[in-house]
Amino acid sequence: MNNPITLPGLIDVHVHLRDPGQTHKEDFLTGTSAALAGGYTAVFDMPNNAEAVVSEKVLEAKLASARKQIVSDLGVYFGSLGENLDEFDRVRERVRGLKLYLNVTTGGYKIDTDYLMRIFTAWKCDKPVLLHAEADVIKTALEVTAKTGQKTHVCHVSCREELEPILEAKKSGLPVTCGVCPHHLFLNEGDVERLGNFGRMKPELKPVKDVDYLWSELDKVDVIESDHAPHTVEEKQSGTFGVPGLETTLGLMLWAERDGRLGREKLIDLLSEGPRRVLGLEKQDATVEVEPVEFKFSNEGLKTKCGWTPFEGMPGYGRVKRVVMRGETVYEDGEVLAKPGSGQLL
Ligand code: NCD
Ligand code: ZN
Ligand code: ZN
Repeated sequence: MNNPITLPGLIDVHVHLRDPGQTHKEDFLTGTSAALAGGYTAVFDMPNNAEAVVSEKVLEAKLASARKQIVSDLGVYFGSLGENLDEFDRVRERVRGLKLYLNVTTGGYKIDTDYLMRIFTAWKCDKPVLLHAEADVIKTALEVTAKTGQKTHVCHVSCREELEPILEAKKSGLPVTCGVCPHHLFLNEGDVERLGNFGRMKPELKPVKDVDYLWSELDKVDVIESDHAPHTVEEKQSGTFGVPGLETTLGLMLWAERDGRLGREKLIDLLSEGPRRVLGLEKQDATVEVEPVEFKFSNEGLKTKCGWTPFEGMPGYGRVKRVVMRGETVYEDGEVLAKPGSGQLL
């Protein structure tokens, strides 16, 4: 029997907990319960709610809902469609960054790259602008980072065409970071045949050569982000983009570690230290104990309300046994022990 694995609380810079507005898919309680079950003690929620989080009023309603329910710590991002720049000064202290969508994805909040200069200039602060920026717009986006000097995080980088210019920009000293998702590392376009609509997300699954490239450059990537994007089985069957990921990411990454694809230090960097650096967070008082066992991912017993995973049947390593935050056991043996509302807003 191998020794138990102890890790710092994991941090996910990219989740969609759908609350308020689409709580039939997920809510702050089920979403943060899934976080604890996956070894995450802090998650950061995107603004593409049913009503976009682009005003102080909508932001306050979201934070009020979170305050009552969260069992892990949680922070949120503000959004912009280009018309709310006067709101930035009022909300900056209550959010962890500004998220912009430059491609079509869930929510329909795509903006034109022509807006970027104005938005970046108005946001101008230490907190990052986070971008959904796929291959067609990545160069334009990085030019705006260069011109403004604004810290920028590129979400869910999925292929060489996206990662290569980011690595060049990093090399030249631009304040840019990036994240890769487990589905772009452990699945490829060949899996779409098997998964059907359950393998559909933005950015799409890519050819094996891109997956290999992501693995080969993983040491230069800042974070693994799950892009936990729950949708019901019925919604998936009708073609919605996005897959859940909070309860599968650690098991996949520990499997890769066992496989010799990365070391423990890099694993911790991608799942905890890197996210802290990207968002400028203080060290959390949180640890995760993991049982060193092999298992197969299953749709059964998940805490996420959507109740399925695209990784079903695939091998994982390490079961989260216990999560301790600020001296309290908040999760043990499949059960959330923390009271709704006991998590902190970050
Ligand atoms: C996300 C969602 O469902 O909100 N979907 C996705 O395919 N990744 C939105 C996003 O992250 O682009
Ligand atoms: Zn996105
Ligand atoms: Zn997302």
